[in-house]
Amino acid sequence: MALWGGRFSEASSDLFKQFNDSLVVDCRLLKQDIEGSIAWAHALAKVDVLSPEEAQRLQVALLEVLAEFDGQPQLVVASGAEDIHSFVEQQLILKVGDLGKKLHTGRSRNDQVATDLKLWCKQEGEAVLALLIKMQQSLIHLAERESDAVIPGYTHLQRAQPITFGHWCLAYLEMLERDVTRLQDGLTRLDVCPLGSGALAGTAYPIDRHELAVSLGFKTATMNSLDGVSDRDHVIELCNSAAISMMHLSRMAEDLIFFNSGEAGFIELADQVTSGSSLMPQKKNPDALELIRGKTGRVYGALMGILTTMKGLPMAYNKDMQEDKEGLFDVVDTWQICLKMATLVMKDLKVNRARALSAAQQGYANATELADYLVSKGIPFREAHHIVGEAVVGAIAANKALEDFTLEELQGFSNIIQSDVYQHLTIESILDKRDVLGGTSIKQVKEALVRQDKPIEQV
Ligand code: ARG
Repeated sequence: MALWGGRFSEASSDLFKQFNDSLVVDCRLLKQDIEGSIAWAHALAKVDVLSPEEAQRLQVALLEVLAEFDGQPQLVVASGAEDIHSFVEQQLILKVGDLGKKLHTGRSRNDQVATDLKLWCKQEGEAVLALLIKMQQSLIHLAERESDAVIPGYTHLQRAQPITFGHWCLAYLEMLERDVTRLQDGLTRLDVCPLGSGALAGTAYPIDRHELAVSLGFKTATMNSLDGVSDRDHVIELCNSAAISMMHLSRMAEDLIFFNSGEAGFIELADQVTSGSSLMPQKKNPDALELIRGKTGRVYGALMGILTTMKGLPMAYNKDMQEDKEGLFDVVDTWQICLKMATLVMKDLKVNRARALSAAQQGYANATELADYLVSKGIPFREAHHIVGEAVVGAIAANKALEDFTLEELQGFSNIIQSDVYQHLTIESILDKRDVLGGTSIKQVKEALVRQDKPIEQV
């Protein structure tokens, strides 16, 4: 039976029920709904709506409901209840009869669902944080292992300057650090409890809302009941944090897919995280990474979905808001599994050092060094750039590297060039010179790793 049947003489149509019910989705809020209900029972006891014994009996019964149905969404859904709040109340009444009917005093499903969802965001947000930190640890570990492996660095996907693989890892570590603090920031902002906002105007019972909020693990209570029941910023913020973080994971996946390609061949992925082709026996496909990149799309989609759902809603609660959960749950599930997958990919990733080094040596990645050499001999940079451009054209025509030119040949481009030029054109020299804070020199990468205060453990 619906919670609101009294005013109605006709039953809902089957189609309406199917359309309106949210239990299939919000059954995931069972634990949070019960936590919120226990806290509400005690709050009601404090204002003498319930006796302390009644609150205690409700708590026991609510915990029994949790124990019976936790992890069994199929059983919850089979009840046919409208939503998780109706389901819990139904079960409670089955257990304690009329006492169960008292729990909803002074409460609305509007403040109830807002509270449940915030509790869920807090709990799952913490779980994501732990996964982000684990992923960071795997990047640190890989960066340590490959701090001096050389790969080509790219701009426009053209070989630009050599970098170390460790440096590449640390770039993603920085991005993940911003993901961590962005998520933490959002979690701080949502740590405010709406329970006691009632349907929209505030509960009519003199509940100490601050105490209630703290009893549920929130920092404080919301300050406006209209906002309390109708705010979904936290859903949007969590989806936004996920979307940005997935964008980072997707870029990382794309880099690794390219590094792993037959054309580049800079890395090899473990068998554990790759698949074969049903037709072509030679193939080892980077499916894990492709799926990380692919799943980013649905996370963006959910963010757009909830932003759009919220944009035209009049104050305060509207049923549109029921649409907030499906996308959010999928976003958080996707984010979590992608972080786990990316961490596993990093664990056994091998750099093909010889092949990556040889690629870094090709493609005129030392052209800037030759220009800098000319600058050190007093030629203005713009002119040096032009001279080296001509040298590169000459080298391409001769199908050789810049350092393969004889001194006489090099002097054909600029007679200022001396034999000391060659030492500037080596990979070692190129890397060593980038010895500035944040640069790719092996020394800087090692120092960056030392700066990491996170415990480095095998993940
Ligand atoms: N299932 C609803 C939701 O998720 C619960 C709130 C229902 N409130 C109401 N006034 N019908 O939004």
